[in-house]
Amino acid sequence: MADVTNTAAPTMANAGKPIARYEARQKVTGGKIYGDDLAVPGKPAHGWLVTSAIAKGTITAIDDSAAKAVPGVLMIMTHENRPPLQPMKTFSTGGIGLTSQEPLGGPEIAHDGQIVALIVAETFEAAREAGRKLDISYNEGRPATTFGSPGVVRKTTKEVVGRGGGPTLGDVEAALAGSTHVVEAEYSTPVQHHNTIEMFTTTAFWEGDRLTLHEPSQFVWGAKVGLAKQLGIDPDNVHYVSPFVGGAFGAKAAIGHRTPLVALAAKQLGRPVKLVPTRDQCFTIAGYRQETKSKVRLGCDAEGRLTGYSHELDEFTSLLDPYHNGGLENSAAMYAFKAVGGDMFLSRGDRNVPVFMRSPPEVPVIYALESAMNELAEKAGMDPVAFRKLNDTRVNPVNGAPYTSRSLNECFDEAAASFGWSRRTPAPRSMRDGDWLIGWGCSMATYPTSMTPATARVTLNANGGAKVEVAAHDVGTGAYTIIGQTVGERLGIDPRRIIVQCGDSDLPPGPVSGGSVTTASVTSAVAKACDQLLAKMSASGPMSDEDRRAAFDRIGSNALIEYAEWTPAGMDPKQAKTLYEGGVPFAGGAGEDRTMFAFGAEMVEVRINERTREIRVPRMTGAFAAGHIMNPRTAHSQYLGGMIWGMGSALLEATEMDRLRGRYVNDNIAEYLVATNADIPQVDIIMVPEQDDEINVLGVKGIGELANVGTAAAITDAVYHATGVRIRDLPVRIEQLLV
Ligand code: MOS
Repeated sequence: MADVTNTAAPTMANAGKPIARYEARQKVTGGKIYGDDLAVPGKPAHGWLVTSAIAKGTITAIDDSAAKAVPGVLMIMTHENRPPLQPMKTFSTGGIGLTSQEPLGGPEIAHDGQIVALIVAETFEAAREAGRKLDISYNEGRPATTFGSPGVVRKTTKEVVGRGGGPTLGDVEAALAGSTHVVEAEYSTPVQHHNTIEMFTTTAFWEGDRLTLHEPSQFVWGAKVGLAKQLGIDPDNVHYVSPFVGGAFGAKAAIGHRTPLVALAAKQLGRPVKLVPTRDQCFTIAGYRQETKSKVRLGCDAEGRLTGYSHELDEFTSLLDPYHNGGLENSAAMYAFKAVGGDMFLSRGDRNVPVFMRSPPEVPVIYALESAMNELAEKAGMDPVAFRKLNDTRVNPVNGAPYTSRSLNECFDEAAASFGWSRRTPAPRSMRDGDWLIGWGCSMATYPTSMTPATARVTLNANGGAKVEVAAHDVGTGAYTIIGQTVGERLGIDPRRIIVQCGDSDLPPGPVSGGSVTTASVTSAVAKACDQLLAKMSASGPMSDEDRRAAFDRIGSNALIEYAEWTPAGMDPKQAKTLYEGGVPFAGGAGEDRTMFAFGAEMVEVRINERTREIRVPRMTGAFAAGHIMNPRTAHSQYLGGMIWGMGSALLEATEMDRLRGRYVNDNIAEYLVATNADIPQVDIIMVPEQDDEINVLGVKGIGELANVGTAAAITDAVYHATGVRIRDLPVRIEQLLV
């Protein structure tokens, strides 16, 4: 492991050491760690995707004569000649597919940018030239594009997928009718794309019957088993390698069309095939965050105590597969509501299938709830922080299940003290600095603590060297570091002497790196394997070098290897075996008998120029509590990145659509805006100590998807405080403020 312990890195109670990242040196020196960097046996051929120029219709003819004539072209695979494939189930229905649509399955076009051909050539340039010369004729239909487009039908989620009516408690209509103050408002969030810097690359090669994939993945075991089924081969013959991932955020868990196609091409050509798609192709060959609308009604009594909470959630999705997020069961657990109601709806169109994107349900749903909380606090004449503290709860009001720990009030106290919240004057437009209108806003952040089964193998040598192996994934979060740290702390050995291996399907299976489950699940399995090692050495805790050597002498061995399987409390231990079948059962969040969430409080300052309406965010403060913090340095980065992401999501990020043709317009990172250096203000992160002895072995909660939740609600409330204008449709745009 890396050997730098920066004394300036944050430290705190109930936390591990802030050691530097395991892969820090490789990352800053440009090590070959990403899928497309890895060496292949033999000279690879290069792929190029041809994607559809229309969103709906049929291919009527393909003329490949000019494409074939390009020197170096080896293969043009279309629906007319694709080798057979087995059906693929979607991630939401127990498979690994982004969509159940067959890759190159026929002439029908179901969305813009659908893969219609894979060209393989000796060089990337030849493949690209052939791709541009492939002449495809279409019969173009009129796509149903987004909310309100002709042809779009709205149904309840229950009607579409048979479940998902939303939680209910008491009589919400009566509760709202009897309230002193009620907010009724509609909030919307836009289409967003993950735009990971590492593209959706795929490299495939066959050695006899064994297929190896170098492909960025958040779930190598799921991918291995799922792809094997799709190709109709034995999963033992698929080797998925994804040691590091250059950004995922949910986009690299499910398998899209490109993967089986590249595998088939490599088989047919008998040599490695490498595919690096273009940025604009990445908007349509993978998933995205779908657009949502939330109609919220929220009431309180004369003292400010919450009464009824009703939330109608609309999500857009594809006609191919009804991917959706829901999320009302989580928002209903947030405060001491006396009555809860609402429903979830799906509208479907001729679009590629959406997929999870960082805090999939919480980003839209908590944005809406927290915005309504801010609006209701104002109506009740209360400070928004005091309003939330008054309505804190120790149990999920819907089912009475207690929180295993909940430190939201402590987070608000710490954030407020650091930010200087008490100096806020509540009236809109009451704070200014010359031409700049100043607004301060706040929000709660939350994310459910979910856990899955996990396995791990730990090898310990007499001299204190160790190796830990688990097919978990480091999507940039620091997983390698904290997995190694777990071994070091549990066994009492130097983290620099620990080798960590992840992201390879030949390793013992780990969960999908999604839902922020990795830390809670994988460190539990790793700690269990360490405890088994300690038991073999007749020890009950970290050992000194002398004691360990003595134990190995007694045992008469130089190395001990232990494998462990861990399952979350309340889950059948046999469920760990489903990992070997490519499954990943989840537990946690708003459970039947326990409620498990991490919390935070976010405060932001916006400055809006009174003349130009230019919006700046000079500073943000976030205070977070998430149980035991494995490594305050990597945790700090997760929170920092999360709040920056949240700010970008509130002010910049949106995929624009040509509503007539159903095509994404700004499908590049010049026009799809994300926060960059000059946008990034001072971000103060406070880690509030929290102990949770109940939640899992080490008492940890996932944090990767916590800090980006709530930022948008804080920013829109700050925009209102600065200007008196309520913006409820994200992202906030200057033109919305020109009123
Ligand atoms: Mo993350 S959106 O849970 O993969």
